[in-house]
Amino acid sequence: MARARGLGLLLALLLPMVGASRPDTVVRLNKEVLSYVAEAGKAPLQRALQVTVPHFQDWSGGVFQPTRIQILNVHVPHLQLKFIAGFGIHLLAATNFTFKIFRVPEPLHLMLPMALLADTRVSQGSIGTPVVSVSSCFSLFDKAIVLDGHNSTAPALLAPLQNHIKAVLQNKLCLRISNLVQGFNVHLGTLIGPSPIGPESQVHYSMIDTPTITNDYISLNINAVLFLLSRPIVLPVDTTPFVLPQHVGTRGAMATVGLSQDLFDSAILLLQKAGALNLDITGQLKSDYNLLNTSMLGQLIPEVGRQFPEPMPLVLKVRLGATPTVTLQTNNATLRLQPFVEVLAPASNSAFQSLFSLDVVVNLSLQLSVSKVRLRGTTSVLGNVQLTVASSNVGFIDTDHVQPLMGAVFEKPLLDHLNALLGMGVALPHVVNLQYVTPEIFVYEGYIVVSSRLLYQR
Ligand SMILES: *[C@@H]1O[C@H](CO)[C@@H](O)[C@H](O)[C@H]1NC(C)=O
Ligand SMILES: *[C@@H]1O[C@H](CO)[C@@H](O)[C@H](O)[C@H]1NC(C)=O
Ligand SMILES: *[C@@H]1O[C@H](CO)[C@@H](O)[C@H](O)[C@H]1NC(C)=O
Ligand SMILES: *[C@@H]1O[C@H](CO)[C@@H](O)[C@H](O)[C@H]1NC(C)=O
Ligand SMILES: *[C@@H]1O[C@H](CO)[C@@H](O)[C@H](O)[C@H]1NC(C)=O
Repeated sequence: MARARGLGLLLALLLPMVGASRPDTVVRLNKEVLSYVAEAGKAPLQRALQVTVPHFQDWSGGVFQPTRIQILNVHVPHLQLKFIAGFGIHLLAATNFTFKIFRVPEPLHLMLPMALLADTRVSQGSIGTPVVSVSSCFSLFDKAIVLDGHNSTAPALLAPLQNHIKAVLQNKLCLRISNLVQGFNVHLGTLIGPSPIGPESQVHYSMIDTPTITNDYISLNINAVLFLLSRPIVLPVDTTPFVLPQHVGTRGAMATVGLSQDLFDSAILLLQKAGALNLDITGQLKSDYNLLNTSMLGQLIPEVGRQFPEPMPLVLKVRLGATPTVTLQTNNATLRLQPFVEVLAPASNSAFQSLFSLDVVVNLSLQLSVSKVRLRGTTSVLGNVQLTVASSNVGFIDTDHVQPLMGAVFEKPLLDHLNALLGMGVALPHVVNLQYVTPEIFVYEGYIVVSSRLLYQR
């Protein structure tokens, strides 16, 4: 708790600094979620309603007789949750309480059916978490049913006994509902993360305004801020706020999560700033993976052959100066990289000398998937890797000649590297113990949608 509060304070300090309170993520929880929560919520509700009932003063024998009352069982055969448009969630629980009345000479068993009704408001908490609060709560009692002891139950006992029980439950049950909701809020608080992306980077989600509630769903506008070494990644251009259109994703899915272009741009910018996209590809002589040597290159560039009569391993230094771009089009996500590649060979003094450098353009198709809570990507090369000579210390280079070799030595390590990075993925908005199950991903113009069932598992 203390840690959570400390984090909340930290975020409250950090987030205004970022200044970005436009949504880039929309989480829409459809009414199917309520059915799921209602089903999963029955057992905790039954436990929560196990209150203690103080002794009843039985006057039926002409003297006060303190009589112990115990709740033997609380059964919730029916729990229904419904959205209240513009407000929150309505709860209706049909409940049967079974009581044991420790009356002398023999105990009495009573069943009391009742309905518990509560309206809750869902709003935005001060640190960007959703907060649920009970705005009204009451119980409707049915007639108590005597389960045994018919022979000796004086009606003089039953009426005051019922009144006693009702008066106690009336107060205590709503208090228990409030406590349950408080616990739920602590859980919802875990939405704001942080979730690690890589070793030194994280994503923080926070709700930026009051949720939109209709009869069919609750929609949360969320801002994702990515942090590299505790510094927020801020996109250079301030784009328009992201709005998730109505009918996207799978019908009947529990959750519809829209992730805008901004989120992808931020993630790529983070990877670039972290230098994670850079790599060195080193050739080794006499190994299986040995295309990268001067004798091979010498056949394509005569000057290399002249400078290196003995075969030498080459090194490719791949650096991403320009930020890669992600393009989201209907059913098609692509990633465009423009690396600068320097080709080096060992010099006499055990250092490396630059032979030439290339400006490379490579288009990649980006396949997205979700596992548990993480959105992951894999890439494959689209078309040809395009090369232009940026500088040369080995005279004229015919790019048409070096293209096949460079393409071949460059493609696989680059893809392996990228796929390892993108395979780590970014956590989608979630709370502790919640997973996305059987997710489907849809790519639209400028955003993607994850339609998914949710699974809560401790
Ligand atoms: C609970 O109460 C309802 C309404 O009186 C009744 O129909 C139902 O059978 C009861 N269930 C149990 C488990 O006692
Ligand atoms: C009620 O009384 C009848 C007859 O007097 C008896 O057979 C029966 O066992 C009694 N039931 C209980 C629960 O005491
Ligand atoms: C250089 O690369 C070529 C092409 O893969 C290979 O046939 C040759 O064995 C390599 N040379 C050395 C010395 O590794
Ligand atoms: C996706 O877009 C790229 C670039 O516009 C194109 O080359 C590729 O063929 C497209 N893929 C599909 C499956 O439409
Ligand atoms: C990459 O994709 C862009 C946009 O579709 C296209 O203009 C460009 O020619 C492609 N480049 C390569 C190297 O495939």
